[in-house]
Amino acid sequence: METLQAIKERRSIRAFKQEDVNKGLIEDILNCGRLAPSAKNKQPWFFVIVKDDVKNKIADMMIEDTYKRNLSEEKKKIGFNSSVNPTANVIKEAPILILIFREKNDNWIVGDNLSIGACVENMCLRATELGLGTLWIRDTVYVAEDIAKLLNHNELELNCAVSLGYPNQFPTARPRKKLEDIVEWYN
Ligand SMILES: Cc1cc2nc3c(=O)[nH]c(=O)nc-3n(C[C@H](O)[C@H](O)[C@H](O)COP(=O)(O)O)c2cc1C
Repeated sequence: METLQAIKERRSIRAFKQEDVNKGLIEDILNCGRLAPSAKNKQPWFFVIVKDDVKNKIADMMIEDTYKRNLSEEKKKIGFNSSVNPTANVIKEAPILILIFREKNDNWIVGDNLSIGACVENMCLRATELGLGTLWIRDTVYVAEDIAKLLNHNELELNCAVSLGYPNQFPTARPRKKLEDIVEWYN
């Protein structure tokens, strides 16, 4: 598949088949993440792959946390409408969850976050090319410390996650801003 085709065909997938993903394919995808450029070539990422009970435990932690936070009066007043529970349900349905941790380094947060973005997009595009579906997830943020603790990685900070599996939906492209509305040619 051409790069352009993968860029155009990638979608956020939120419905997955109950079919496991071969370890070789997961390694191939992680390797494409590893090959991404990074600020100062720091490669600030570390991947933990979880499935079955541990994966579902993480989803349950997200749901429990949302429930607790929803109870606060302040959240009720502002009509807090969280996307966390739907995301947690996707995590349960997808057979694989890739957790992307960031090396803790307070002096280089923006550079590292940009680098991780490049890494995750590489993985999502490769997954598309392999006929797999992904959902890039930030909703793990509220329980990031708990997840790190659960996986014995207190020295790292959870940046984001990617649900991975064979897609059970083929969404049409989501809307994008027009190029003319986001570009200025300065002469
Ligand atoms: C950094 C990042 C974080 C995201 N976090 C979530 C998430 O936690 N839950 C979710 O359902 N979608 C999440 N998404 C998916 C976006 O909602 C999705 O990319 C956007 O709506 C465009 O749809 P598309 O990916 O199909 O083009 C995230 C995407 C990015 C890039």
